[in-house]
Amino acid sequence: MRIVVLTGAGISAESGVPTFRDSGGLWEGHDVEDVATPEGYERDPDTVLRFYDARRRAAASVTPNAAHRALARLEGAIGEDLLVVTQNVDDLHERAGSHSLVHMHGELRRALCTTCGARPEWDADLIDRPHCPACGERTLRPDVVWFGEMPYDLDRIEQAVVGCELFVSVGTSGAVYPAAGYVALAAAFGARTVELNLEPSDAAVPFDEVRAGRATEVVPAWVEEVLVA
Ligand code: APR
Repeated sequence: MRIVVLTGAGISAESGVPTFRDSGGLWEGHDVEDVATPEGYERDPDTVLRFYDARRRAAASVTPNAAHRALARLEGAIGEDLLVVTQNVDDLHERAGSHSLVHMHGELRRALCTTCGARPEWDADLIDRPHCPACGERTLRPDVVWFGEMPYDLDRIEQAVVGCELFVSVGTSGAVYPAAGYVALAAAFGARTVELNLEPSDAAVPFDEVRAGRATEVVPAWVEEVLVA
């Protein structure tokens, strides 16, 4: 059975990574326009670089939880029949052992050179304008997809979504497209759709099944069922 699992900030919440739209979420403390748009970066690059430098350091200080580990275990059992499509920019899926994984909104542990387009792995701060390892220019920005920018690997993701038999959404509010549209696409191509979320999201198309609860509880239980099925 080919399975696509779409994950959002809710899967990393119990690891200590704040979500965006929940109370106390990132978008409460920061204006999206200022820190998550190319225009905001143009206007005030220092504020943006500091924001992502802080997020990169915070992500390095937390660890994967039982939900990340359960998905890695599922991959161990079914290999590339599972594709995890994450909207998250943290590396908790990788650190839990996932390989069949796409970061559609970019990664905190990569930089993007606005001169040559290189996307080097990056763990240090960017505020001091380090040189791009490929072209030498001091034009590195966070490799995070901002509002108004094109997400990564859309063709690969859409191919997997239209070809899957089971589409599962974990810890996402379904507020942001194109990710929020994948449940409808999967359903339109005959897949069964399941939502695992703290509370049911207001997805455009209802899921066949909704299981409300914490990711660290509902994801391992769902994986267990799939493995014994
Ligand atoms: N377990 C399961 N779900 C949870 C948990 C938890 N412990 N905690 C929160 N949630 C759910 C919330 O109920 C909410 O539906 O996770 C969802 C988080 O939603 P958002 O904060 O909107 O995050 P996300 O859906 O990932 O945002 C999508 O928006 O801001 C942009 O690019 C950013 O990738 C992000 C995109």
